[in-house]
Amino acid sequence: MSNTVLGIETSCDETAVALVSSGEAILSSVVSSQIDLHAKFGGVVPEIASRAHLEILSCLVDQALGEAGQSVTNPDIECVAATVGPGLIGALLVGVSCAKALSLAWDVPFVAVNHLEAHLYASFLAGETMDFPMVVLLVSGGHTMLINMKGHSQYELLGQTHDDACGEAFDKVARYLGLGYPGGPIIDQVSSQGDPNAIIFPKPMINDGLDFSFSGLKTAVIKWAGKNPTTDAADIAASFQKSAVQVLVTKTARAIVETGVDRVCLAGGVAANSLLRSEMTKLCEDNGWNLFLPPRSLCTDNAAMVAASGWWKLKLSGPSDLATPAIPSLGFPATI
Ligand code: KG4
Ligand code: ZN
Repeated sequence: MSNTVLGIETSCDETAVALVSSGEAILSSVVSSQIDLHAKFGGVVPEIASRAHLEILSCLVDQALGEAGQSVTNPDIECVAATVGPGLIGALLVGVSCAKALSLAWDVPFVAVNHLEAHLYASFLAGETMDFPMVVLLVSGGHTMLINMKGHSQYELLGQTHDDACGEAFDKVARYLGLGYPGGPIIDQVSSQGDPNAIIFPKPMINDGLDFSFSGLKTAVIKWAGKNPTTDAADIAASFQKSAVQVLVTKTARAIVETGVDRVCLAGGVAANSLLRSEMTKLCEDNGWNLFLPPRSLCTDNAAMVAASGWWKLKLSGPSDLATPAIPSLGFPATI
């Protein structure tokens, strides 16, 4: 029997389809970004996102099957997995409806995947042997969390943000500085030309537990930039990035010490950040901790992580009901 899962991801502004074998080997993975469509609005426009997913998704399914050497009419797959939440309702509905239709057409199970849980599975696709337990820092545009992953589907939430997600702060600071969208990769790039010590910005809650807060840092940066309009945007970006990354690294180190778990993994779009990756590498080398850094392309939204998570979900809990809805505010961990 086939061990291949076809995964579909449409929760936000990336349309993605992938085929993954045994939850770890990527046979094909295609991602179509909508950045150009949303850039002029400075952020994701939900209605435009849904329509763009609808236009391109079936082409991407064909492409992913073709690249994996599979037929479109009768593919050799075990199930179809799709992100059911969290995300934009219209965007989610496109992927979920497509996955259900394919499951009926091909007579294979449908598996509902939690997007946050899927991010944790990116590291399983990087060719490394993963051991449990491990501390995962999940940092994306909508979430900032520290999780103790004790096994498949066994999670302890150690901390999370009280307000803005870290990626959201990157995006909003970039927008205010007029750097463009999406802000995270641009701040990452612009910061390499700036002085990270030019301005001392706050490091919210850095000495306080495992929860986060990024709204105060975002506001401090925006206020400072408003009062100092002649300062080089690269210096502001680099100083902001330094504060945000210091908070992330300090909290992750605290989570490792408090749990006694010396394996750590980064996940989510902000895990593509150059400074975060280099600071985490240094921290783990200094302390003899094992670090798993998924390649950048697997940190940001993709369908390979959805297929990997779906494979494990099928093994552990079986297929999902075709009546499973799209759930925009789906939490973590959640029973879906
Ligand atoms: O995981 P993701 O692709 O989508 C969500 O689930 O939210 O994460 C997107 C977030 C955005 O806020 C984006 O600005 C941020 O990840 N991001 C980065 C970088 N690449 C993406 N933030 C900082 N540095 C980067 N290189
Ligand atoms: Zn994501």
